[in-house]
Amino acid sequence: MKIAVFGTGYVGLVTAVGLAEFGHRVVGADKDTDKIRMISSGKAPIFEPGLEALLAKNLKSGRLEFSDDLGRAVRESDVIFVCVGTPPHDDGGADMSQIEEVSRLIAGSLNGYKVVVEKSTVPVKTSSWIKRTISLYRKSDTPFDVASNPEFLREGSAVGDFLNPDRIIIGVESERARDMLVRIYDNLKERILITNIDTAELIKHASNSFLALKISYINLIADLCEKTEADVELVARGMGLDPRIGGLFLRAGLGYGGSCFPKDVKALTRIGEDLGVDMRLLREGERINAERVRVFINKVKQSLWILKDKTIGILGLSFKPETDDIREAPSIKVISCLLAEGARLRLYDPQAMGHMKEMFPGDGERVAYCTSPVEAAQGANALLLVTEWDEFKEIDLKKIKQVMANPILIDGRNMFDPPAVRALGFEYSCLGRK
Ligand code: UDX
Repeated sequence: MKIAVFGTGYVGLVTAVGLAEFGHRVVGADKDTDKIRMISSGKAPIFEPGLEALLAKNLKSGRLEFSDDLGRAVRESDVIFVCVGTPPHDDGGADMSQIEEVSRLIAGSLNGYKVVVEKSTVPVKTSSWIKRTISLYRKSDTPFDVASNPEFLREGSAVGDFLNPDRIIIGVESERARDMLVRIYDNLKERILITNIDTAELIKHASNSFLALKISYINLIADLCEKTEADVELVARGMGLDPRIGGLFLRAGLGYGGSCFPKDVKALTRIGEDLGVDMRLLREGERINAERVRVFINKVKQSLWILKDKTIGILGLSFKPETDDIREAPSIKVISCLLAEGARLRLYDPQAMGHMKEMFPGDGERVAYCTSPVEAAQGANALLLVTEWDEFKEIDLKKIKQVMANPILIDGRNMFDPPAVRALGFEYSCLGRK
């Protein structure tokens, strides 16, 4: 079977590489010629652990290629995975124009039966639109099927998530399409759940929104802990011991960001409201998440009183560790708030500074980018931990304290051990615990 993967963003690139690793012949297709050239030379446009090694391996094997000839990619494939972006509109709904464009393109080059698989996160009922579009624009009655196979990979562990997924959801409406998709995942047969297409589409949005709500829930409990002697880390641990709840995604802190949760919660809210369903539960989760930065900035103010002309170091800019992605990162709001208050910022992140410089160029005066955590702490009146990269667990806090103007540490991810940092002489605050 020959597979085409349309789109070489996060999902598309990992899918193309992963399917080649499963042993299939794959062409990754994208109209961005520069990107295709870059990826074809073995360079990944995103930072993702393990991706470049696997890309190089599969390019070398001859199973994987990348092309900007989209028509050829369609003609030479039996299955087409659609992995183009579905960015949010201002009203929260998803912009489906790239999916529509790819559907028309597939229609124009359809030269035999193919299965068109939605892999990007799309609103329920999208498959009907893809089907209608291909039917409208194809030149003959060439048969095709549409299927849904949502992707659940997480940034930072995307390769492992793709190669070793918890579940593979396959939404189909014909046996022919089902058999072809099951063959693709032959090595993971026991993890496949077959559903109809609407169900598969909804599973993705429902999962991400549930996880986002779980995070907002623990952040709500953190607010409650702040007002009592309870410790949110232990509350989360105690709750998580119940297998019905589970311990994952109960980390309180600055809340969720990234390219998926904020967008998917909004999209599902919009989908539900359009269908006449009361979606206030999701709206409330979103509101709690939006409050996190304000709660955090209040902590900074409680420590420094006036922020104008104070020097503040920030550790961690990406929306979560192990990625250079800053989309919807809480750090953006933290930086904006602090700059609005007149603070001077010293920023450090192991991977994300390049992207952040595009948004907040370093002027060396109000915003300085640093080459290490110690440099970010230099002369600072307070040091803020915004993203919990592993390397920050190892930092030499004694040295950090020596270079700071005031040893104030404010931990937005509850990463440090309160007694240990206080024993070093830091004034330490965190979220939902003392
Ligand atoms: C998510 C889903 O996990 C994945 O299945 C889907 O395919 C894409 O969206 P991702 O956005 O890469 O993946 O990151 P994830 O690890 O889920 O974290 C999302 C956000 O939630 C991050 O900002 C993270 O910091 C935050 N988070 C996560 C918490 O605040 N607390 C937690 O306990 C867990």
